[in-house]
Amino acid sequence: MAMHSSILLLILLAFLLSGSQTITCTALSIKEATVRDIQLAFKLNQLTSRQLVEFYLGEVRRLNRDLRGVIEVNPDALHQADVADQERKAKAPRSLFGLHGIPILLKDNIATKDNLNTTAGSFALLKSVVPRDAGVVMKLRKTGAIIFGKASLSEWANFRSFGAPNGWSARGGQGKNPYVLSADPCGSSSGSAISVAANMVAVSLGTETDGSILCPASSNAVVGIKCTVGLTSRAGVIPISPRQDTIGPICRTVSDAVYVLDAIVGHDYNDAATKEASKYIPPGGYTQFLKVDGLKGKRLGIVRNPFFIFDNGSVLPQVFEHHLHTLRGRGAILVDHLEIANIDVILNFTSSGEATALIAEFKIALNAYLKDLMASPVQSLADVIAFNQKFSDLEMIKEFGQEIFLAAEATNGIGNAEKAALLNLKGLTEGGFEKVMRNYKLDALVTPGADFAPVLAIGGFPGISVPAAFDNDGVPVGICFGGLKGSEPKLIEIAYGFEQATKIRKPPLFQPSSFKSCTTCTINDLVVIKH
Ligand SMILES: *[C@@H]1O[C@H](CO)[C@@H](O)[C@H](O)[C@H]1NC(C)=O
Ligand SMILES: *[C@@H]1O[C@H](CO)[C@@H](O)[C@H](O)[C@H]1NC(C)=O
Ligand SMILES: *[C@@H]1O[C@H](CO)[C@@H](O)[C@H](O)[C@H]1NC(C)=O
Repeated sequence: MAMHSSILLLILLAFLLSGSQTITCTALSIKEATVRDIQLAFKLNQLTSRQLVEFYLGEVRRLNRDLRGVIEVNPDALHQADVADQERKAKAPRSLFGLHGIPILLKDNIATKDNLNTTAGSFALLKSVVPRDAGVVMKLRKTGAIIFGKASLSEWANFRSFGAPNGWSARGGQGKNPYVLSADPCGSSSGSAISVAANMVAVSLGTETDGSILCPASSNAVVGIKCTVGLTSRAGVIPISPRQDTIGPICRTVSDAVYVLDAIVGHDYNDAATKEASKYIPPGGYTQFLKVDGLKGKRLGIVRNPFFIFDNGSVLPQVFEHHLHTLRGRGAILVDHLEIANIDVILNFTSSGEATALIAEFKIALNAYLKDLMASPVQSLADVIAFNQKFSDLEMIKEFGQEIFLAAEATNGIGNAEKAALLNLKGLTEGGFEKVMRNYKLDALVTPGADFAPVLAIGGFPGISVPAAFDNDGVPVGICFGGLKGSEPKLIEIAYGFEQATKIRKPPLFQPSSFKSCTTCTINDLVVIKH
């Protein structure tokens, strides 16, 4: 397949500005194209979905050997692109909206009932047969989005062992941060963040139990929306905890992430929590909150200890002080020097009770997921542990261990210890984050990086990470806006307002070192990883 790394399209952008129509002529490269750019290019017959998919396939071939953000490319992606192109030509109603004809990459713990595997990066689940598409995938297919492939991840969403590095899985290899290859890409939705950051796909989905969207988004200079638990269906997603798991977009811009969010939210019969949470979905969807002046009048809380403490000599304190200044300048009301009660305990996985709750919930939820499979080499967590022992070289068990699996297997449902842990988490949330938000009538708390993730995780709260800085080594750092349940509309206004005021993101300058040696490889040669 031909490689078009620099397809240039002449696009006519029509802007309606306060009643008077201005026509601007500008050149658009597919690289860095946003959902809106792509929609417009489709509309003006300047681009087809086939061209788009061919471009991304070429970029995967060129970049993925080094970056390892993609585990599998969908052999049916080009066919789906052709169908989308035909529907657009025939002016099918759905072809005018949303993600129709746009390729999306799914974290490898999100099930697809097609030729792609769903394995959480582990060989233990290779050849497992899922009963149906995940709930979010059903919604994506309904909009006509192209399922481009599966993203690599920290294996088992980082719930196998503490020893494995972020972004590593047995099937995916080591995912790399495209800004600084030696830097931590964070996880566990590492491949989703890496792949959109490096323009290997238009948009992507990640999942989060505690930090797994917010942290890789922060570290790879992309936008991640960790939405309110239940806003998006978890059905068909390899689970950790139904109490904390959530599915959300990871994209290059806030606007792109919001288009993806609109496509995936809503009720799903296979996930009861989506019924309750659907009350949060605004009529007309979320794109109406992409307001340039979205910061105006927003009350933003600042908790300095411990979130604004940086290494000595770091450029970050200055950068973030400047950002606070910018937020104020755009009309936000900053409420500074707040404290969250027991924050040290909340951030300590062990003493908060989060670890105790998660390992027990994981065993129950994973066993239910495995039982629901139509065929699988492993039927239970105990089988997965045994598989890992048997293939300990392949799964790097000798090096990285599987102590979380072993601890989970040793649990026996939700007993007294787990109930006490859950009660403790509830108390910490009510007396901590919720109390501060309500007492000071805040719209969001603002923190650098993704250190705030556990606060949001244990309460099921939403947060958005937006590119904010590059540290002394050139490694990206995001800014996180976190709010109460269902506050996505406000968080989107704030995140978009900040992004438009700062525009920190720039594409990585990464160039593959060894592309020449592999011009004859097929996609599957490149993505079948062996150490
Ligand atoms: C899924 O796994 C099977 C078994 O290893 C493999 O043959 C197939 O190519 C994989 N699918 C994709 C799309 O990579
Ligand atoms: C940072 O600098 C302060 C003041 O010079 C010093 O007290 C502190 O120990 C330093 N911290 C680290 C981590 O080096
Ligand atoms: C977390 O709390 C435990 C006690 O529950 C303690 O042993 C451990 O040192 C704490 N970890 C940190 C990083 O403070």
